[in-house]
Amino acid sequence: MLKNTFSMYKIFITRHIPDAGPKALKEKGYQVDIYQKDDVIARKELLKRVKGCDALLSLLTDKIDEEVLKAAGPKLKIIANYAVGFDNVDLAAAKKYGVTVTNTPAPEVSETVAEHAMALLFALAHRIVESDHLTRQGKYHGWNPNLLLGTDVTGKTLGVIGTGRIGMNLVRRLNEGFGIRTLYSDVKRNKELEKISNAKFVTLNELLMRSDFVSIHAPLLPSTHHLISTKQFRLMKKTAYLINTSRGSIVDSHALVQALKTKRIAGAALDVFEGEPAFALRRQDSTYLQHAWSVILTPHTASATIEARQAMSKLAADNIIAVLSGKPPLTPAK
Ligand code: GLV
Ligand code: GLV
Repeated sequence: MLKNTFSMYKIFITRHIPDAGPKALKEKGYQVDIYQKDDVIARKELLKRVKGCDALLSLLTDKIDEEVLKAAGPKLKIIANYAVGFDNVDLAAAKKYGVTVTNTPAPEVSETVAEHAMALLFALAHRIVESDHLTRQGKYHGWNPNLLLGTDVTGKTLGVIGTGRIGMNLVRRLNEGFGIRTLYSDVKRNKELEKISNAKFVTLNELLMRSDFVSIHAPLLPSTHHLISTKQFRLMKKTAYLINTSRGSIVDSHALVQALKTKRIAGAALDVFEGEPAFALRRQDSTYLQHAWSVILTPHTASATIEARQAMSKLAADNIIAVLSGKPPLTPAK
């Protein structure tokens, strides 16, 4: 078979991802090298394999810094991060080396993550996980008017921190479907959100004081690190629930555990953790989170549907194809 003109381009993918992206890259005639072990690639291996590649398709579990850029060498043009978040990539270093960074905020992903946040919100309100556990353990001994009373979602107040596509999808669904009132905080007013919902722009403090459910959809930045800590938990209603599907370090986990232990808030659902995959927490804090019924935990699976992950894979590849064809990236990280 004749090699087409693009065959000189080398792409390194740091782990197996759904096939839409790798397929599109191979169809372009690119040389695609995929790390084969189903694990986070070891640092040494990453530094070795990235050498001489034109594009790197990285995952949120890979730390992409100046050392990686140096190891890749001068051919590297793009780091296509397979994630909506890109706090694992040193943007300043990439800029210094003239390397484009992209993320994967595909419409499918924003819907999927909003669905997951909703699922967690309803599971908290209706005490689904706890109820399932009790029933499975054979502890359901007959109908009881006071058994496992939860709270309604309909007509309650939702506080959304960060109103990108994911936050907006969540607001729209809960507003249309459940008549929820919404307060939001963000770096600036979101007119588009206000057009499609009844959402009101408020300060973070006001949001925390008035919301029944607080859901975080902000990126992790120096300015959002431990955005929710002891002082913020003190402002929340005692009946309020916190949902985090963004990045673990936006919430001060130790402060969260204290707030749960002292019943400062009613509960929390977490898809992301500080220092994951291990809880990089004090031992008592992780033990508490793993055993408290006021807590629901999912293992960073908010975007884990086949539809979302294929869309992320395809978008990462399309960004690579665009940049290697001398076109602007579709979704630059910024
Ligand atoms: C997942 O956390 C993502 O950023 O896509
Ligand atoms: C992207 O989908 C975002 O919510 O910022």
